[in-house]
Amino acid sequence: MFYNKKVHAMTTKLILPGRISPLSLLGRLLKGPAYDGAHYCLVVDENSYAHCLPQVVSRVAAFEEAEFVEVPVGEDCKSIEVATHVWQTLLESKADSNTVIVCLGGGAVCDLGGFVAATYRRGLRHINIPTTLVAMADAAIGGKTALNLDGVKNQVGVVRMPEVVCIDPSFLDTLPPAELLSGVFEVVKTAAVADADLFLKMVAGTVPPASAQAISQVAAIKQAVVKADPNDHGIRHILNFGHTFGHAIEAHSSATGVALPHGIAVGIGMLMAMRLSVLKTGLPRESYDTYRRFVLQYVETPHFTLIDAEQMLAYIKTDKKNHDGLVLAVLMRNLGEPIIDIPLSDNEIRDTLLSGGLLA
Ligand code: GLY
Repeated sequence: MFYNKKVHAMTTKLILPGRISPLSLLGRLLKGPAYDGAHYCLVVDENSYAHCLPQVVSRVAAFEEAEFVEVPVGEDCKSIEVATHVWQTLLESKADSNTVIVCLGGGAVCDLGGFVAATYRRGLRHINIPTTLVAMADAAIGGKTALNLDGVKNQVGVVRMPEVVCIDPSFLDTLPPAELLSGVFEVVKTAAVADADLFLKMVAGTVPPASAQAISQVAAIKQAVVKADPNDHGIRHILNFGHTFGHAIEAHSSATGVALPHGIAVGIGMLMAMRLSVLKTGLPRESYDTYRRFVLQYVETPHFTLIDAEQMLAYIKTDKKNHDGLVLAVLMRNLGEPIIDIPLSDNEIRDTLLSGGLLA
C-alpha cells in the first residue's frame, strides 16, 4: 500500500467538549483503522496520575494495555534527564512505529511528551490530553514541544503537530484555583487578539473563560492561527500578546521566591501591553479600562523598583522573538486587531514596567 497510515499527521484533530464526552469520542477514534495495531505509552505527571488517569483509562479502552511513564509536575519535567528516562522506557518496552505517545497533563507534559515523540526513532505519533486550562486553551495545540536548558525556558525543541488533542473540561474540577486563574488569562488573551466579541463577553461574565463554550472557541481560534503559520514566523506571534512583559514578570517572580503562575504573569503582561497600545498604536482607552477592571478583580498590579525594571529589561532583551537587537512586541490597534513586531525602546519598556500597567 502506497499510503502508510502510520505517517505523522501534519494537522491535528481537535476533539472538543460537546454532548458526548470528549474522552469517549477519543476511545471511539482509537478503535478506527488509523490505530490498528497501535500501542500506547502514556506520559503522565504525578497530579494527572492521581486525578485524571482513572477517568481516562475507564473511557478509552485502547489504553488498558498501555505503558505508563510518570514524570515530575510542571517545568521540572522539561529536562534532558527526564526526556532520557522516557526514551529509555520506550527502548525497554521495544517501542516502534506502532507506538503512539499520549501526553496526559498540563502544558509542561505536552512539551516534554511531544519532544520525546518528535525525537524517538526520528518521530512517533502523539496525542495530547490536556488537564489544565492553560494547556486546553493554548499549550497542547499547535505542536510546540520543548525542554528547558540551564534555566532558560523552552530553549530546545521542535514543532511537531500532535495527531489529536482531546479537550475534556471535566478535568478542571480538580485544578487548584491559581492554576485555573492562570488559564483564564490565556483564554482571555486569545479572545483579545482574535475575537473582540468573545473577549467582551468573557470580561462581562456572559461567557466564563473556563466554560466549555469559551474553551472550544479559543481552541478553534488557536488551531486556525497555527494552520496559517505553523512554524511561528508571522501571524502566530499574535498569541504572544502580553508575553513580552509576562515572561519577564514570571521570571522575576520566580527569582524573588514568589513564583507567579505563567498565565497570571501574562494577565499582568497584557495590561502592560494594552497600556502601551493606548499610547503607541491607538487602542481606545475604553478597551484598556474594560480589561483593567477585569484583571484587577483577580490580581494586584506589581510595584517594581528601578533595579527590578533593569533586570526585567535585560530578560526581555533575550526574547526569542526579537530581531537585530530590537525588542519586538505584539500590541493592538483595537480589540481583535493585533499588530506584531512593534519595536519597543528601552525607555518604553522601563516606563511600562514601572507603571505596573496602570495608565493615569
Ligand atoms: N503559545 C503560543 C503559541 O503556541 O504560539
